[in-house]
Amino acid sequence: MQVITTVREMQHASIAFKKTRSLGLVPTMGALHAGHLSLVQRALADCDAVAASIFVNPTQFAAGEDYETYPRTFDNDCAKLEAAGVSLLFAPIAAEMYPAGAATFVEVADLSNRLDGASRPGHFRGVATIVAKLFNIVAPDRAYFGQKDAAQVAVLRAMVRDLNLPIQLIACPIVREPDGLAMSSRNRYLSPDQRRRALILHHSLHAADKLLRSGETCAEALRIAMLDIFAAEPSIRIDYAAIVDPATLLPVADTTHGALLAVAAWVGSTRLIDNLLIEPSSAATPIEAAHA
Ligand code: PAF
Repeated sequence: MQVITTVREMQHASIAFKKTRSLGLVPTMGALHAGHLSLVQRALADCDAVAASIFVNPTQFAAGEDYETYPRTFDNDCAKLEAAGVSLLFAPIAAEMYPAGAATFVEVADLSNRLDGASRPGHFRGVATIVAKLFNIVAPDRAYFGQKDAAQVAVLRAMVRDLNLPIQLIACPIVREPDGLAMSSRNRYLSPDQRRRALILHHSLHAADKLLRSGETCAEALRIAMLDIFAAEPSIRIDYAAIVDPATLLPVADTTHGALLAVAAWVGSTRLIDNLLIEPSSAATPIEAAHA
């Protein structure tokens, strides 16, 4: 695996690769877990070669968030990516991506203020900006993101569409721990007790899913089922429990035509998210299927 730290070198490497091979990109902020590696696996299945990036992007963290303390496990991440079959790793420092005077941002209006964007102002502006830059630098044929960040997927799909970027965006299913907790780099912040209580996010989605499978399609009924689960654990501060259109992130009244059930909550000082995508048939599927 070739480790590259400059934009110029990455652009040259990508051009050389793409002369003969299709290239997939897995953008990450490091602190890799099995969810990230599932994106690499999918990219390897689709593309001739895979590039990954590790960059803890300062512009997507608001003041007071965990930019400084975000887990940085570079050597460990490199070993995992190399073992997984990644050919190119782009790992720039912040000054390489945002040199003095950098003043251009990408903002997907409206969508960026919904779900996580509502409670993390500026977050999706930072995400859209860095992903647009990575797309320009790596120039992949396809790029892979986890469905756990469903709002991020919606924002980036809109960006790709609106800017006519020649890149196929592929969202891959959430990878869960054996007990159902969605994998996240931030799970490592949790104490054993918080880790146990964090399962409530998964349990709330499970309760709504059970109701759905019994034939309920009223979004408010499903939302109440989710909130009822949280009521049993008052130490957990819910940010949102929402039933929305997966593309617009706007609330839907009924799930008959498909919906995204999304939840975010604070477990201690750690904010976690989880979701379930419902396709029109009421069966939960990876988000990609709903966009196919
Ligand atoms: O999902 C993430 O890890 C980040 O938001 C991303 C897409 C790598 C951009 O920094």
